[in-house]
Amino acid sequence: MERLKQKILNEGCILSENVLKVDSFLNHQVDPFLMKEIGEEFAKRFKNQEITKVLTLESSGIAPALMTSLMLKVPLIFAKKKNPLTLKEQDVITAEVYSYTKQETNTIAVSREFLKENDQVLIIDDFLANGEAALGLIRLIEQTGAKVVGIGIVIEKSFQIGREKIEKAGYRVESLVRIQSMKNNQIQFFAKEVLQ
Ligand code: G4P
Repeated sequence: MERLKQKILNEGCILSENVLKVDSFLNHQVDPFLMKEIGEEFAKRFKNQEITKVLTLESSGIAPALMTSLMLKVPLIFAKKKNPLTLKEQDVITAEVYSYTKQETNTIAVSREFLKENDQVLIIDDFLANGEAALGLIRLIEQTGAKVVGIGIVIEKSFQIGREKIEKAGYRVESLVRIQSMKNNQIQFFAKEVLQ
C-alpha cells in the first residue's frame, strides 16, 4: 500500500533496528483518512470470505480494525487486556499473550456473548512482530468453535518470526506493508524498494 509506505518513510522514526515509532498516524495520534484506506484495502483482500466479525486487541488495533469492520459491514470486537470488572469470570474467554518487546504476559479477554460457534472472524492488528498477539487472538476464537478466516496486519516486521509462526499454524496473513530491515537507520521494504 503505497500511501502507507510513504507515511512510514515521512513520519516513522526508527528507534532501534527492531522498533519503529509511528505515533503520528497509528499508535497515538490517528490519521482517519489513512485508516479509511486501510479498512478499504483489508475489506478488498478478504472479500467473499463471509466474515461475520472483526477481532482486534486494544488499543492500537482498534482504529484500523474499526474501519475494516465498517467496510465489511460487520461488528468489531476488541479483546481487552484486563479482565473487565463488568463481566463475570464464567462469561469471558481468555488467553495468555507474552510480549517479547515488553517482556510481560497479559491475559486477554473477550465476552462469550460476542463470539459464537458459527462466526467467521477476521483478525486485524497494527503490528506483526513475534506473532504472539495474533496467536493469542486465534486461541481465543478457537475456544468458541468459531473460524479464523485470516489475519490482516498494517505493518509487518518481516525480519521477526511472527508471519512464519502464524503461517505454520495454517492461517492466512495479509500485511499492507512488509518491512524487511531497519538496519543502518534505513527502512527496507520487502518488495526490494530501499527508500530513505
Ligand atoms: P507480537 O504480538 O507480534 O509478538 O509483538 P510484541 O509482543 O513484540 O509486541 C508487543 C506490543 O508492541 C504490541 O503493542 C505491538 O503492536 C507493539 N510493537 C511491536 N513492534 C513494534 C514496533 O516496531 N513499533 C511499534 N510502534 N509497536 C510495536 P501493544 O502492547 O498491544 O500496544 P498497544 O496496542 O496498546 O499500542
